[in-house]
Amino acid sequence: MRTFQQISALRAYLRGIREEKRTVGFVPTMGALHAGHLSLMQRAKADCDIAVASIFVNPTQFAPTEDLSSYPRDVQHDLQMAANIGVEALFLPEAEEIYPQGFQTWIEVSEITTLLEGERRPTHFRGVATVVAKLLGIVQPNTAYFGQKDYQQFLVIERMVRDLNLPVTVQMIPTVRESDGLAMSSRNAYLTSEERASATVLYRALSLASERVQEGEQNPAQIYSAITQLVQNEPYATLDYAVFADPDTLQPVNTLAERVTLFALAVRIGKTRLIDNVLLVPEGITPPRTRITKPL
Ligand code: PAJ
Repeated sequence: MRTFQQISALRAYLRGIREEKRTVGFVPTMGALHAGHLSLMQRAKADCDIAVASIFVNPTQFAPTEDLSSYPRDVQHDLQMAANIGVEALFLPEAEEIYPQGFQTWIEVSEITTLLEGERRPTHFRGVATVVAKLLGIVQPNTAYFGQKDYQQFLVIERMVRDLNLPVTVQMIPTVRESDGLAMSSRNAYLTSEERASATVLYRALSLASERVQEGEQNPAQIYSAITQLVQNEPYATLDYAVFADPDTLQPVNTLAERVTLFALAVRIGKTRLIDNVLLVPEGITPPRTRITKPL
C-alpha cells in the first residue's frame, strides 16, 4: 500500500491510474478504523480497479465544544488494517495541507442540514461537505462510499454532488454492527465497560421500532413513548432525539403506514454521544434497495 501526505504526490499517482483506464473507488474516513470502515473499503475494491482511502480528522466538522482533540487516533493500526484489506493508496494529509493559510471557501447544503444532527451541531455539515468536496476534487474517484450509520451525512453529500454536478457516483453501504447490535463507531472507544453494556440500548430501540412497524403499528407517537421508557430505564443513557422522518427530505412524518420511514436516534451514554438509525419498512412494502446516486 502506498501512503501519501501531499496532494500533489497523490494526484501524480492517480493520474497514472486514470491513464491506464483503471477505475477508482474512494473511502474517506477519520481513522481509528473498524469493521464498518473496512466494509466500505471492501466494496470499493470489489466494484473498482483500485481502492483509495483517506484518514483525516477534519477539524472544521467539530464545534469548539466537541471532541476534536480527544478523537481516537491510531495511525499504525490503521495502516495495517487498510493494507490487509488491499487498499492501494492511503491519503493521510496534515491539516495545513487541506486548509492552508488563506483558505476561505465553504460548502453549505441548506435544508437537510437544519434537521436532526444539523439542529444539534449547526456547523458540522458545512465542515463535512467542504472536506468531502475537497477530497473528491483531489482523488476524482469514479465512486465514493459512505456508511448508512451516518444516514444524514450521506444525504448531505448526495445533495451536494447533485447540486454541484460533481462527476462521481456515491453509494451507501449498510451499517456494520458488533455481535450485540451496537453500531461500530470510532467513538465507542470512549465507553467504559458499564457504558458499553448500556450502549446496546440504541440497537434495542431500533429493533423495537422495526418490530412494531412490522406488526402494523402506524403511529410514531406510540413507538416514541416506548422508546423514551426504554432509554430512561437504562443507566448512563439519556435520549437526545428519536425522530421518524422521510428518508429523502428528513421532514418528520406522522404516520408509518404505506411508506418507508427513517428512524434516527441520538443517545448520550455518559459523556459519549452515539447515533444510529434504521429504515422502518411496513408489511407489504418492498424494502428500499441500496442507495446509489450516479451523476446525470
Ligand atoms: P468516519 O466517522 O471515520 O466514517 C467514515 C465512513 O465510515 C463514513 O461514511 C461512515 O458513515 C462510515 N461508517 C462509520 N461507521 C460505520 C459502520 N458501523 N458501518 C458502516 N459504515 C460506517 O464520517 C466521517 O468519518 C467523516 O464525516 C468524513 C465523511 C470522513 C468527512 O470528514
